[in-house]
Amino acid sequence: MEIINDIERMQKLCMDLHREGRRIAFVPTMGYLHEGHLSLLKEGRERGDTLVLSIFVNPAQFGANEDLDTYPRDLARDATLARDCGVDLLFHPPAAAMYPKGFATYVDVEGLTDTLCGRSRPGHFRGVTTVVSKLFNIVRPHLALFGRKDFQQLAVIRQMTRDLNLPMEIVGMPIVREPDGLAMSSRNVNLSADQRRQALALSRAIDEARRLAGEGVRATADLLPPLRAMIEKQPDARIDYLEICHRQTLDQQQQVDADSVLLLAVFVGTTRLIDNGFLLPR
Ligand code: PAJ
Repeated sequence: MEIINDIERMQKLCMDLHREGRRIAFVPTMGYLHEGHLSLLKEGRERGDTLVLSIFVNPAQFGANEDLDTYPRDLARDATLARDCGVDLLFHPPAAAMYPKGFATYVDVEGLTDTLCGRSRPGHFRGVTTVVSKLFNIVRPHLALFGRKDFQQLAVIRQMTRDLNLPMEIVGMPIVREPDGLAMSSRNVNLSADQRRQALALSRAIDEARRLAGEGVRATADLLPPLRAMIEKQPDARIDYLEICHRQTLDQQQQVDADSVLLLAVFVGTTRLIDNGFLLPR
């Protein structure tokens, strides 16, 4: 495995791979790797000839009062995990090279970014789509893998890829959870032991929604209040949003059907956690 910091060198290596006819699988991340990231790498290893991982904590997707400075980082550990997963190229550019002085071009997906995380984190998705476009132009992958943990992000990237005719396949992967149900996230390390227990309310709310929907409770107005109560019972939890939406349009639904997904964002202390799940089998 080679670690590459230089953008032009990375671009040249990837161009050479194209010429050699190799299929490039790409997993973009912000590092501090966990099993969720590794599941994407393992799938990418299966599907591609060359596996590329990027680790870049992207300043453009963090708001002024968000956790850019405290976002966990450990490149040495990440490099070991990446090597063990069969990563060929680890791209780790400096922020000043990705956003040099005078940088002025952004990619903005309309509509899908108006709701949920887009509403609570203005500018967040513009930062994501801009950096992912840049990474796609540098790596020029044949396929790129994203987790459904960031459900709205995946929908936004799919829309961008369609709208801009990007010649690549976007692969969505299932959420990887801790044995007790907590969705894996780099931010989980910021939880105290007590907050870690309280954070289980997110996945439990999804389980409960599924149970209620399975029993025939289909009106969103009946489903959401008990879930809200479950989460608000936790002393350090504050709901950012809790919504039932259509899996493709992300429009809010009044009635649950096979396309419904429950999406939630909850602050536990100062750590913002997200999770989601489908409510009925298709
Ligand atoms: P990051 O949060 O590091 O996540 C990188 C990828 O791992 C994303 O596609 C995310 O959905 C996936 N992932 C995270 N936790 C997961 C879990 N528990 N199960 C399955 N997949 C999981 O998402 C980003 O970085 C950034 O926004 C990025 C796309 C890299 C742009 O900066």
